[in-house]
Amino acid sequence: MGLYSRFVLPRFIDGICGIADTEKQRRKIIPAAEGVVMEVGIGSGLNLPIYCAARVTKVIGVDPDGHIWKRATDRREAVPFRVDRIGVSGEEIPLDSKSADTVVVTYSLCTIPDPVAALTEMRRILKPGGRLLFVEHGEAPDAAVRKWQSRIDPVWKHIAGGCHSGRPILDYINRAGWTLDRIDQGYIPGPKALSYEYWGSAR
Ligand SMILES: C[S@@+](CC[C@H](N)C(=O)[O-])C[C@H]1O[C@@H](n2cnc3c(N)ncnc32)[C@H](O)[C@@H]1O
Repeated sequence: MGLYSRFVLPRFIDGICGIADTEKQRRKIIPAAEGVVMEVGIGSGLNLPIYCAARVTKVIGVDPDGHIWKRATDRREAVPFRVDRIGVSGEEIPLDSKSADTVVVTYSLCTIPDPVAALTEMRRILKPGGRLLFVEHGEAPDAAVRKWQSRIDPVWKHIAGGCHSGRPILDYINRAGWTLDRIDQGYIPGPKALSYEYWGSAR
């Protein structure tokens, strides 16, 4: 792992994912989490202060990157519920089937190398009756913006730790066998190629 990935990238991701407009997005979805929560791609723990402490008993973060996880220390220590991290990829998670009440993924399906495999693992681990909660950026509906998404990707993915600007998020969720029960989408403030978002829940 190079110096950029170790020292610069965790700060960059924490900063860019922590802006006020994304926090606003998180606040629309994350408070619905309950019970034992598995959060895939937990990063620097930006969702931790947004979980409803009265509803959540434990958060299990799944993320292969230990450097970004170090940036979660203050947030982890400030919440009243237990937070553990498993340092593995979301495509193969060593947790029992039907062991989480809620599965959360935010701003990570853009980066996970095989998002359909990860979403399939999430489905295996969710208890019957539980929900997947997500907030993601991805493919824009406008051809001109999609053109920019493909233009910037070869450079952007190197700067942003493997992030793809225009992935077809809903297609991935459907292909992994989920049924959407709430979906919203639209541009949030910011550069259009990076600001078309999908947020909601699935069963
Ligand atoms: C843009 S960051 C988002 C972090 C956090 N979810 C948030 O909302 O701020 C993407 C995260 O996905 C993680 N990631 C990359 N590959 C992954 C994989 N195969 N499985 C799980 N997480 C992965 C990265 O380490 C990083 O923490």
